[in-house]
Amino acid sequence: MHILLTGAAGFIGAHTAQRLLARGDTVLGIDNLNSYYAVALKQARLAPLLAQAGFSFEPLDVADRAAMAALFARQRFDAVVHLAAQAGVRYSITHPEAYLDSNLTGFGHILEGCRAQGLGHLVYASSSSVYGGNTKMPFEESDPVDHPVSLYAATKKANELMAHTYSHLYRLPTTGLRFFTVYGPWGRPDMAYFSFTRAVLEGRPIQVFNHGHMKRDFTYIDDIVEGLLRVLDKPATAEKAGGAPCRVFNIGNQDPVALMEFIGCIEQALGREAIKEFLPMQDGDVPATYASTEALQRWVGFAPSTPLQDGIHRFVRWYRDYHAV
Ligand SMILES: NC(=O)c1ccc[n+]([C@@H]2O[C@H](COP(=O)([O-])OP(=O)(O)OC[C@H]3O[C@@H](n4cnc5c(N)ncnc54)[C@H](O)[C@@H]3O)[C@@H](O)[C@H]2O)c1
Repeated sequence: MHILLTGAAGFIGAHTAQRLLARGDTVLGIDNLNSYYAVALKQARLAPLLAQAGFSFEPLDVADRAAMAALFARQRFDAVVHLAAQAGVRYSITHPEAYLDSNLTGFGHILEGCRAQGLGHLVYASSSSVYGGNTKMPFEESDPVDHPVSLYAATKKANELMAHTYSHLYRLPTTGLRFFTVYGPWGRPDMAYFSFTRAVLEGRPIQVFNHGHMKRDFTYIDDIVEGLLRVLDKPATAEKAGGAPCRVFNIGNQDPVALMEFIGCIEQALGREAIKEFLPMQDGDVPATYASTEALQRWVGFAPSTPLQDGIHRFVRWYRDYHAV
């Protein structure tokens, strides 16, 4: 297949590109290489992709309407994997405009491009954050998700609604994946596992929010990519006769881990104890996430299961190697 992959220099995007190329697909990666976190890390993720014949890259902003329309007019794709977005819950409190531009306007441009091509399948990133402060666990796709607690979450929920509209009106098959706290080598520096590792190695305190009373369903990157590829290969169909070819799946580990246990895992992998600074809950954050992956399992016969300890060890090995520490 020839695939348009947005957010190709990002954490999940670069891993996805690698797997697509390994199985023989060709990939056009786009990314605006913004400076939300170190651009050098994004370029380092791109470097091994650029060395492969099946990969090409264009520095494009999905929020640029004319550039996106020109791209879809210039090249035909068999499928689109849309991962470019402004990520992060806390940043959406201070920088709402980045979310409006990339996650809403940008998503609209992707849908328009797919519609214009009569595309076979759009797979896009949603997020566990759409569940907001829901307390019914595990989170299931059929649960109400009408009470987001951050603008980030609201944009992801909006993406699901926009995708449904295009599936309904234009029969565009769309599949949204609600990722649950993805971690692993080449990960994102703004996420807790990354910043905790850096702080512990530098002998600085780590900030433990909600006094450590949090639970997260952590999902290892290889599991995410496996699930994504399986979903990509099975274009969404309508759930009911006459319905829209539109699906949304959780993709998590189904095994929420307490924050203090998670910190223990990092300490063990580093062979050092963290200095902990206990703080209250932050705005926009949620106390717990827990994925039900039964729907995904039924759809593609796969659900993530890498144990946190294994994944954190692999991350720490990469971190030490990449930073030479
Ligand atoms: N990592 C997680 O735990 C997680 C959880 C839930 C959802 N997600 C979603 O998964 C997707 C990928 O996340 P990630 O962790 O790889 O994040 P990431 O920030 O590493 O990757 C996103 C990439 O998109 C690019 N980008 C941002 N805005 C853009 C724009 N307007 N035009 C073009 N490129 C743009 C960035 O430069 C970046 O390289 C995002 O949509 C994110 O919201 C991630």
